[in-house]
Amino acid sequence: MDEQETLRVSKIKNGTVIDHIPAGRALAVLRLMGITGSEGHVVTVAMNVRSGKLGKKDLVKVENLELKAEQVNKLTLIAPTATINIIRDYEVVEKRNVKLPDKIVGILRCTNPGCITRQPMEHVSSRFLIVSKSPLRLECEYCGRYLEEEEVLKQLTQ
Ligand code: CTP
Ligand code: ZN
Repeated sequence: MDEQETLRVSKIKNGTVIDHIPAGRALAVLRLMGITGSEGHVVTVAMNVRSGKLGKKDLVKVENLELKAEQVNKLTLIAPTATINIIRDYEVVEKRNVKLPDKIVGILRCTNPGCITRQPMEHVSSRFLIVSKSPLRLECEYCGRYLEEEEVLKQLTQ
């Protein structure tokens, strides 16, 4: 970020900075993390700021909150380029690149109503293989139904 943009978004003392979010997805990221604003955390959102790597990016800073692993796993689906920075006493003490796992278990729902994972009595968790990362395309391990990026975004943000 250039000087102007550094000034636009000030440093935080403690918390999490989710950086390099694809432009336009910051609000989806917040929803996915279950942050509504009513928890009382100071949340800063920057959208469409300049980034060397991505051209434009979004950025989310949540003060006094450190993201849990489960929340980070979900983020990989809608913000695979994101960097998670844990900040303590103004220093970046941990920097994690989110990575797509080989399989997504239990987070998403198969769109095939006949799929075994959709039958409440069967108690089978959904399992998707990553067929393609960009654009994102997943395949249900049980029935072979594809789940496209648009549907993944829809499920994760509704
Ligand atoms: N940051 C912050 N408050 C701090 C320290 C860092 O809000 N006390 C933010 C920075 O503004 C940046 C991100 O956390 O958006 C990562 O910080 P840093 O690693 O210092 O920046 P870069 O080296 O530019 O990160 P990267 O290499 O991941 O692009
Ligand atoms: Zn299925």
